[in-house]
Amino acid sequence: MPRKPIIAANWKMHKGPADAAAFIEEFENLIGGSSSVEIVLSPTFVTLPAAKAALANSETTQLAAQNCHFEDKGAFTGEISIGMLQEIGVDYVIIGHSERRTLFGEDDAMINAKAKALHAAGVKPIVCIGETLEERESGQLESVLRRQLEVGLKELSADKMPATVIAYEPVWAIGTGKTASPADAQQAHAFVRKVLGELFGEEVAAQIRIQYGGSVKPANTAELMAQPDIDGALVGGASLEPGSFSEICKNAG
Ligand code: 13P
Repeated sequence: MPRKPIIAANWKMHKGPADAAAFIEEFENLIGGSSSVEIVLSPTFVTLPAAKAALANSETTQLAAQNCHFEDKGAFTGEISIGMLQEIGVDYVIIGHSERRTLFGEDDAMINAKAKALHAAGVKPIVCIGETLEERESGQLESVLRRQLEVGLKELSADKMPATVIAYEPVWAIGTGKTASPADAQQAHAFVRKVLGELFGEEVAAQIRIQYGGSVKPANTAELMAQPDIDGALVGGASLEPGSFSEICKNAG
């Protein structure tokens, strides 16, 4: 079965409720009611309800949160549970973004706890992995990706993996304007799929969508998406404007 491409906007700490509603109105007009790719918007927590309302009649566009906590409830000041996100109606939750790892101290074990909790709740994780420039230049690309996958996806059941998305985002390509070349990205994606095969079996690995992230723009989308193991994109800066994000979605189809 071919893998349906999945293009996700990661709005990071941009767009409050009013901005998001205005974006969605314009974006949905540009997309025009149908798309050959799965489209996901990831607003901030406080913007999720307004985005959900603005997407009420959308046939194309789903919603993700940018993070979650792994416990159901409790004394975790400032955190948001998966049940709360389900109440709003999110389809996906991004976990392990490099900004969460580097700026907020999240490690692979914590990301694994979140992945397990999302699977248990029936919410689809988008699990981010990726190497720093220093790791790549010192020949650690494969060992870093392998560790992030082996620990981050530890003890997850294979039957939930086809609904799980992996986002390969080389840290040096995020927000820098430097995109991995399509060939370099493909090489990393093929390695990720090989490790997924070792962990969950080849048949399952063949169904898992692996997004590329890091300076994706309308102009480089088609070339990246033409690679056999690149199944979508996780887009930061270029997802903030309806025009450029809709072009990315169209170019990915
Ligand atoms: P940019 O597209 O701005 O490089 O951000 C990528 C990213 O971090 C998406 O999660």
